[in-house]
Amino acid sequence: MHLKITRPDDWHVHLRDGDALKSVVPMTARQFARAIVMPNLVPPVTTTAQAQAYRARILAEVPGDVAFTPLMTLYLTDNTDPGEIERAQASRIVHGVKLYPAGATTNSESGVTDLTGLDTTLDAMAECGLPLLVHGEVTDAGVDIFDREAVFLERVLSPLLDRHPKLRIVLEHITTEQAVRFVRDAPDTVAATITAHHLLYNRNALFRGGIRPHHYCLPILKREQHREALLNIVASGHPRFFLGTDSAPHERSAKETACGCAGIFTAHAALELYATALEACGALDRLEGFASHFGADFYRMPRNTASVTLMKDPWTVPDRYRFDGGAVIPLGAGETLTWRLLGPESHSTV
Ligand code: NCD
Ligand code: ZN
Repeated sequence: MHLKITRPDDWHVHLRDGDALKSVVPMTARQFARAIVMPNLVPPVTTTAQAQAYRARILAEVPGDVAFTPLMTLYLTDNTDPGEIERAQASRIVHGVKLYPAGATTNSESGVTDLTGLDTTLDAMAECGLPLLVHGEVTDAGVDIFDREAVFLERVLSPLLDRHPKLRIVLEHITTEQAVRFVRDAPDTVAATITAHHLLYNRNALFRGGIRPHHYCLPILKREQHREALLNIVASGHPRFFLGTDSAPHERSAKETACGCAGIFTAHAALELYATALEACGALDRLEGFASHFGADFYRMPRNTASVTLMKDPWTVPDRYRFDGGAVIPLGAGETLTWRLLGPESHSTV
């Protein structure tokens, strides 16, 4: 069985930097025509000049036979000023500004501590149509980790929409029924991305037979009812919910340790994983809109014209891939995937 769809885009990915780029850029470039690249490097990508340099480092790792465009983002800090937004917009290579509440996730230490201090910067973004990409979790240690997204919607996002009704917002990697409802009922200026892992797993996956660091990411996996809400909105074909893998590789030893990093790596088989999730709920016909049309429409970019083919041809996901002088453990390591994306490359395993 074959499934031919417009070539997809990934509207949220971590490609990292340095040697790590060599492993993961070819994988994302094989799967996707374009990708919104997260700026949470160390130090973070806070200026257009840094984004330009980072873009060049990414492009240097794109295989010669693959067409791939990285769409760059800036990391919003308490000090991002409207001038930086103007430079970003003029560059034509920056396509979003990322809000990490300080302390919310990996490398978010330089994130925003007080959003109300950024009103003129957000006004400048609204004015030129540059979207705000939101990690939607409160960082308050008093709020249960499983509730941090839902509380963020009430405490932060709702007032933000009231203050900046024209600001275009992508609520990234949503994980709860509350976020589904919020975005569905919000104006057309608000959209959401959904990862493959939040469509495939509920929080039991974190504790199956023992603690599973490779299923730990932020926002953390939630209860089954939330996974079902995510699947249902994708299955409904709603155009403001689209693909963002949040593929977030960490070297194995950074995850398999007493205090492991958050992040699930899915770039090796992103489309195959999404196809698996949608097929299981009878919504494979919604894959193309979700993966290849809706994101481009929201970001006001042309849809891709090339196509890709997924084939029913079972294969076993390698136990690990080479990464940053060591290895990264991919989602589904050692398991069989029934779908295979036809493409030019296979990747070297360790
Ligand atoms: C991401 C990372 O590792 O950079 N981790 C994650 O669990 N998703 C950061 C993020 O997007 O929250
Ligand atoms: Zn992310």
